[in-house]
Amino acid sequence: MKGSIFSLLTSLFLFLSLSTASPVGQDAGNLAKRVSAGSLQQVTNYGSNPSGTKMYIYVPRKLASSPGVVVAIHYCTGTAQAYYTGSPYAQLAEQYGFIVIYPESPYSGTCWDVSSKAALTHNGGGDSNSIANMVTWTTQQYKVDTSKIFVTGSSSGAMMTNVMAATYPELFKAASLYNGVPAGCFYSAANQADAWNSTCAQGKSITTPQHWGDIARAMYPGYTGSRPRMQIYHGSVDTTLYPENYQETCKQWANIFGYNYNAPQSTKNNSPQSGYTTTTWGPNVQGILASGVGHTVPIHGSGDMDWFGFSGSGSSNGGSPGSGSSPSTTTSTNGGSQTTTSVSTQPTGGSPGSGGGTVPQWGQCGGNGWTGPTQCAAGFTCTVSNPWYSQCL
Ligand SMILES: *[C@@H]1O[C@H](CO)[C@@H](O)[C@H](O)[C@H]1NC(C)=O
Repeated sequence: MKGSIFSLLTSLFLFLSLSTASPVGQDAGNLAKRVSAGSLQQVTNYGSNPSGTKMYIYVPRKLASSPGVVVAIHYCTGTAQAYYTGSPYAQLAEQYGFIVIYPESPYSGTCWDVSSKAALTHNGGGDSNSIANMVTWTTQQYKVDTSKIFVTGSSSGAMMTNVMAATYPELFKAASLYNGVPAGCFYSAANQADAWNSTCAQGKSITTPQHWGDIARAMYPGYTGSRPRMQIYHGSVDTTLYPENYQETCKQWANIFGYNYNAPQSTKNNSPQSGYTTTTWGPNVQGILASGVGHTVPIHGSGDMDWFGFSGSGSSNGGSPGSGSSPSTTTSTNGGSQTTTSVSTQPTGGSPGSGGGTVPQWGQCGGNGWTGPTQCAAGFTCTVSNPWYSQCL
């Protein structure tokens, strides 16, 4: 309840601040100009919105001339605001010049509809349809490089990431997801929207790669174009969405790309960090299982940037994302414990890229083997996450 009152206030606040900026009722061509850079803004009229999903956007102050787009999808109980403040994408947007879209679930409890036929069908009229329309709107408003559109999410947002990849493969170049389930695993036999599927959640929806692939392909029948490269993170001791969902998700995308699930190309222990195992089935499917990690694996911002190709190293060859000298940006979006207490339109504390050897919010500042800077930007404290990882919070 507190959350919904809060998000109501947030919407109201953002709506008011947006509508005072310029009169309502302008045509779509002028909408982009109303979205001020460097803060989270709600877009209330992004086109057809069959499920009532809210759209928020972060346009960086340093927008690239032909920007990419990252759709960042929150977890259950989360909001656009919470994912904006609790994930590194807005800060990374300033670094790489891309736009971030933060959709917000229309359902109480704010899980995503990944269960109804509408949601699991291309242009089916569910949340996935609304999110796709947000991408189209953004593409039309900005000179977006359509080869740089990506989707990511945690938990329910990770489920939705798989669903977006299956229902709108033509929109996305790559996806990364943290502790989700395969596309279609939360299917509701009663065709209920926003249903919880405990069979799937408990890791009991086990089938063949072929069957999982068929389920995903059926979400956009007849589609033969390109599909997003998939990077799948999961924690090995997840008791919300059991780790069987990791294997099942990897089966699904391995099959989609024609890789033999039983014969991965490579398996690397302690990659991209100690306790994580990276399995690569081919250039388009990589799984990362985090040993001893529950729900959810923290967002690996710099790994995502590698996977999406923003940071140059690509890692399409199964190289370990986040390896090398660049500090990985990681943040926790753990479960429902995250609450936001103030209406903040500031992206992050530290100004990204500001040198001087200080680490911005969310950046790595310590851990075994860490040789980078250890001093956090003003207002942030270097906090131990585990023996290998400390970050500025
Ligand atoms: C839960 O999902 C599975 C597929 O993962 C499906 O077979 C089953 O019917 C679903 N359960 C309900 C109650 O709809």
